[in-house]
Amino acid sequence: MTHQQPIGLDALIESCTPGFALPRSFYTREDIYHHDIGAYWNNSWIWVGHISQIAASGDYFLFEYGTESVIVLRDSANDVRAYLNVCRHRGSRVCVEHQGNARVFSCPYHAWTYDLNGHLRGGRAMGPDFDPTQYGLFEAKVRVFEGLIFICTGETTPEIDTGLDQLRALAAPFGLGNLKAAHSASYPVPANWKLALENYMECYHCAPSHKEYSRSHSLKDPSSMTNELVEAMQQKGREAGLPSQVLSLPAEGQQGMNFYYRRYPLYPGYQTGSKSGEPVAPLLGNLTGYDGGTTDLQIGVLNNFLIYSDYVVGYRFVPTALQRTDIQVVWYVRGDAVAGQDYDPDTLIWLWHETSLDDECIIRINQEGVNSHHFVPGPLADMEWGMQSFYDNYLSMIRSGG
Ligand code: FES
Ligand SMILES: [Fe+2]
Repeated sequence: MTHQQPIGLDALIESCTPGFALPRSFYTREDIYHHDIGAYWNNSWIWVGHISQIAASGDYFLFEYGTESVIVLRDSANDVRAYLNVCRHRGSRVCVEHQGNARVFSCPYHAWTYDLNGHLRGGRAMGPDFDPTQYGLFEAKVRVFEGLIFICTGETTPEIDTGLDQLRALAAPFGLGNLKAAHSASYPVPANWKLALENYMECYHCAPSHKEYSRSHSLKDPSSMTNELVEAMQQKGREAGLPSQVLSLPAEGQQGMNFYYRRYPLYPGYQTGSKSGEPVAPLLGNLTGYDGGTTDLQIGVLNNFLIYSDYVVGYRFVPTALQRTDIQVVWYVRGDAVAGQDYDPDTLIWLWHETSLDDECIIRINQEGVNSHHFVPGPLADMEWGMQSFYDNYLSMIRSGG
């Protein structure tokens, strides 16, 4: 889909200095925001949910970002598919319920009706020359990795399969295909989506901003992540059935999709990310014990997960306006775990709920400062290394996109 390139964008991109934060305009200009959606988000893989949400044929949910709405569903052959929620007649949303079960989607405006394969069944009173096969819903690309559903709505689809193949063995012990959402929450923040995502990409802010997280997670301070601590975790990990490799793609000098998998230690006394350090849910997948670690998992630039031995947290930062972003967080436990019996939802969500509240505050005041005409981008710290790869990816995609 073509759209207009913002005026002066190339010069603005040229003005960015490697190793420094992005200039103010990227967070304050309406035209750049719309270009972000069209050129960046539409051409990125986005984690939208888990197969447990659409267990039966006809089950569906909507995923929305920026100007876009996507129907994610299970078709009659039990395959996961995704369609743009835009009627091929005059563009109305075809589906307005956020989730449910349907045999067909009938547009609320003039009742054009589409089946689970996106085919138009017939246009009401369109005459004998009308060819419904020309007017199916636009289909988005879908990948299901260990139960996690990813979509890409654009024509330029980044390579994802090589990274997923390499990740498969590392993720296998956690049994991610067999999860259920124990809790979902949205933290709306008055900031551009890039500030929200950037905040997730670095733990330079963890020590000053996250009291609860910093008490238990060694990532907050590289000097505290001693070899001794890492080796103790890896030893327990081997006993519990966990490989200890690190995966980081692309390798230096290569292009391609960003993948990252690294397990790092919690401090002694913490078996999982909880207030007391005690387990909060049944062990995931094939694990036979707690290694006292957690995994940072990134699948593509936009999608982040933390995997403890007994629960998973998924994070995405969904743009809803130039300076409005929904921080969407989902807590997953093993598929057969029962609330109130195997886990207490409040205990389970405590750490990442508190941490998200902290983040909501720092991201908001970050945007307030960036809005000042006096903001000049400063240098990134070593602990912010992940942000530069985001900038590189972002700037190259918005330059060539559109
Ligand atoms: S806009 Fe959907 S039927 Fe007319
Ligand atoms: Fe944070």
